Amino acid sequence: MAEKKTIAVLGATGAQGGGLVRAILCDPQGGFAVRAITRNKDTDKARELAKLGAEVIAADIDDPEGLKKAFEGAYGAYCVTFFWAHFSPEREMAEVQAMAMAAKNAGLKHVIWSTLEDTRKWSPLSDGSIPTLHGKYKVPHFDAKGESNHFFSDLGVPTTFLLTSFYWDNFVSFGMGPQKGPDGKLAITFPMGDKKLPGIAAEDIGKCAYGIFKRGGEFVGKTVGIVGESLTGAQMAAGFSDLLGKEVAYNSISPEIYRSLGFPGADDLGNMFQFKRDFNEYFCGARDAAFSRSLNPELQDFNAWIRNNKSAILGTQSAASA
Ligand SMILES: NC(=O)c1ccc[n+]([C@@H]2O[C@H](COP(=O)([O-])OP(=O)(O)OC[C@H]3O[C@@H](n4cnc5c(N)ncnc54)[C@H](OP(=O)(O)O)[C@@H]3O)[C@@H](O)[C@H]2O)c1
Repeated sequence: MAEKKTIAVLGATGAQGGGLVRAILCDPQGGFAVRAITRNKDTDKARELAKLGAEVIAADIDDPEGLKKAFEGAYGAYCVTFFWAHFSPEREMAEVQAMAMAAKNAGLKHVIWSTLEDTRKWSPLSDGSIPTLHGKYKVPHFDAKGESNHFFSDLGVPTTFLLTSFYWDNFVSFGMGPQKGPDGKLAITFPMGDKKLPGIAAEDIGKCAYGIFKRGGEFVGKTVGIVGESLTGAQMAAGFSDLLGKEVAYNSISPEIYRSLGFPGADDLGNMFQFKRDFNEYFCGARDAAFSRSLNPELQDFNAWIRNNKSAILGTQSAASA
């Protein structure tokens, strides 16, 4: 039997990387092996991956030497950064540069880089409608990723640039699910007006990435966008209403109000939603559900995600009313 191709996966204990690790391990005849990268091999999550059959190694994205070792001998790598761990676009760009260097040094045959748009190509700094943040960004956690694409191209690393979508899991883990307003009624709140928000089950991102690796070099040098389904706030609220058996409204607020909500990163996310709203035709058009399903036949649409996560969603409701 031919030797398996090893994929080194960053963020292996997290949302995107975890989905890819499990997708590879669930397909033992698929021709791939997985090297799960974590900062600490002794956590429950890391041990669980080892138990499932992953090679687990320790490396930190901020340690270029460790990254080089983590990629050595592998066929490919899944590269993702963790903006919300530090909120620094400059640090994120340095991390991508180190990943690209490590991929080059290891002679990887295929890297998938989990990127996003540099929104300044659509809304330049001179455009006052979306406020400029930190003097040079519109949506820092998007712009830093998009600006970093060149690190891979400049070094000639065979790379697929993967545009991901909003995780529906944010409804459970990020407090974005239905919440009671001052009127006592449940609502989800977004500054998207009547525009569609491309969304995806986080687990499906890794499954789509596995589909890309399985298709060999077909998407090397290409940008591909993945999505489970693109829905308006009203459509998502209707899905929650069905699940909960009581009305959930869609509370469409302005990006200005969203930016002022006061939680860490509210300005960045307010700008992000405004970008998705104001350039909606481009943004939705860059992410195709039929294509995503061709990579991952188990791709969930919103209703499937809601059904599969019913108890977690209901849990957020009982926690809120406790
Ligand atoms: N939330 C969304 O809707 C959404 C949508 C699209 C894109 N994104 C992007 O997704 C990225 C995050 O990916 P994710 O959601 O998969 O992350 P995640 O679930 O937060 O997982 C991150 C994992 O990476 C590891 N990690 C954290 N810091 C690390 C470091 N310095 N070195 C090595 N490993 C480190 C951690 O594992 P250990 O503790 O085991 O090391 C952690 O389990 C962000 O950049 C965000 O902008 C998010």
